[in-house]
Amino acid sequence: MGLMAWGAAAAGGLLLCSEYEKSRPRVRRYEISHRKIPEAFDRVRLVMLADLHNKSFGKDNQLLYEQICALRPHYILTAGDMVLKTRPQDTENTARFIGRLTALCPVYCGNGNHELELWRARAGRRTAYDWYADSLKEKGVRVLADETAVLSRDGESIDVSGLDLGLAYYGKGLHVPMRPGYIERHLGKPEPGRFHILLGHYPNYFPEYAAWGADLVLAGHMHGGTVRLPALGGLMSPNYEFFPTYDRGLYRLGQARMVVSGGLGTHSINVRIGGNYPEISLICLRRKGKAVQESYGNQG
Ligand SMILES: [Fe+2]
Repeated sequence: MGLMAWGAAAAGGLLLCSEYEKSRPRVRRYEISHRKIPEAFDRVRLVMLADLHNKSFGKDNQLLYEQICALRPHYILTAGDMVLKTRPQDTENTARFIGRLTALCPVYCGNGNHELELWRARAGRRTAYDWYADSLKEKGVRVLADETAVLSRDGESIDVSGLDLGLAYYGKGLHVPMRPGYIERHLGKPEPGRFHILLGHYPNYFPEYAAWGADLVLAGHMHGGTVRLPALGGLMSPNYEFFPTYDRGLYRLGQARMVVSGGLGTHSINVRIGGNYPEISLICLRRKGKAVQESYGNQG
């Protein structure tokens, strides 16, 4: 067999692996321990979803729904890019799926760059974003577009904010410094002493999110680096950032923590290779305990 034939066979094999991985979401488990987490939120389970990009696992995302259901979440949070900017006509399917999740528990959605790109697509007199966000709200989903919600349990509460990070910050391979006071202008100041979750889609601004006062950042965008390489991690983001600093997993900066989801779908480079399975993040909040652990569990 010639070199070309070997190359074609290898590429075909990799694509087959990718198709296998792409269709099988797995659960990644995190435990976040923080002194600000109130007693009533000890052992509360958050499910975080990101980067679905309108994909469906089974008809109407039934497979994904069942996997999430089995985790018995107290809250579901989405960290952006659940839609695909080039397919605004398909966002209703995504809205229907997210809306269905409200049968399990309260659902809060933050925006990523693909949601914000929907501002540019018009459907009649309204933008595609208006249709999508209104559809979510009609279904009982709380959309956090530069907004903060209070999550309450047994007389105690924590805060969750969704930041609409301007598209100018999503530079391709170029880090755009964040303007001083940017997050505060969008969200105000977090209240000291209260545990504050920030849905910040783009993980590269973790230092800025932490400096603002986020205790736990939930992010995505990187798709786990698309191709996972042994010892090196993710190769590139869907925006062609090579070897991204925050490709997937748990990160710490001072007292702040960030969970970066490997995401669920794909776009642009439609492959997932090297153990880069679509991710459902299960985050268990703990009031006490010293260790912050990450473990990897296969949930079908
Ligand atoms: Fe994104």
